[in-house]
Amino acid sequence: MGHNLLKGKRGIIFGALDENSIAWKTAEKVYQEGGRFVLTNAPIAMRMGKINELAKKCEAEIIPADATSVTDLEHLVSRAVEILGGKLDFILHSIGMSPNVRKGRDYGDLNYEWMMKTLDVSGVSFHKVMQVAEKQDALNEWGSIMALSYIAAQRTYPGYSDMAQAKAVLESIARSYGARLGHQKKVRVNTISQSPTPTTAGSGVGGFDVFLDFAEKMSPLGNATAEECADYIVIMFSDYTRKVTMQNLMHDGGFSTSGITQAIVDDLMPKG
Ligand SMILES: NC(=O)c1ccc[n+]([C@@H]2O[C@H](COP(=O)([O-])OP(=O)(O)OC[C@H]3O[C@@H](n4cnc5c(N)ncnc54)[C@H](O)[C@@H]3O)[C@@H](O)[C@H]2O)c1
Repeated sequence: MGHNLLKGKRGIIFGALDENSIAWKTAEKVYQEGGRFVLTNAPIAMRMGKINELAKKCEAEIIPADATSVTDLEHLVSRAVEILGGKLDFILHSIGMSPNVRKGRDYGDLNYEWMMKTLDVSGVSFHKVMQVAEKQDALNEWGSIMALSYIAAQRTYPGYSDMAQAKAVLESIARSYGARLGHQKKVRVNTISQSPTPTTAGSGVGGFDVFLDFAEKMSPLGNATAEECADYIVIMFSDYTRKVTMQNLMHDGGFSTSGITQAIVDDLMPKG
């Protein structure tokens, strides 16, 4: 049952691929809280057909857009404003993809064209979305824009490869564009740094199951789930967080401030 936290608010949700996606869970919760939105994903992701189920459930229209294409984004933003009958109060950027990770390239043997693609899809596209929205004057005052990040922006993790650089870019864009939109429109821009989460993007990282298990043991509250992340995003879209901006918000059960936990000590303690 919802609490109408987002009643009357309109937005765009990027990145719902299947029912495991953080964006999928977020769409369900935003809908439950009275928000209305357009769903979007890369044209190639549409072919999997799953997003139609979500759209039906949430009474949302789908507008395909490659988040690296300014032309696609211009069409998306203007159509969204038309369909929803007003300017936007929230945007969720829940997009990540690295061809180097996907194709198992070693960090010492990166394909640089692919690396540029990683940076564009997973980082720069966040800037593109906001620049298009600004140019079209498509944002309402006190709106909220969110993207999803990972702690590999600050610390190294084997297997995360060039996605670490993409997340550093993403978080930096949130600060720079947050300053701009704050002054201009009282719009806030933040990233949520989420625990490892079993989704298509997450599971693509080498050794993901070990990662998941380690993070679970290193987090006093345990890993944050996709559903819990969706709850956090709802609050960040609501009017209860109007002065939170230009932050990278840790949503990780305490992982990022734990030195070591008893569970890890127990694991490493010589047996017998
Ligand atoms: N799963 C994790 O462990 C984890 C942890 C922290 C942060 N994140 C971040 O959360 C976000 C959502 O990922 P997820 O875990 O829900 O996985 P997911 O695979 O369900 O979502 C990733 C989405 O990105 C979309 N996408 C890829 N290229 C695109 C393009 N060119 N244009 C538009 N969309 C494109 C995909 O179609 C997909 O819907 C990503 O930014 C990811 O890096 C994930």
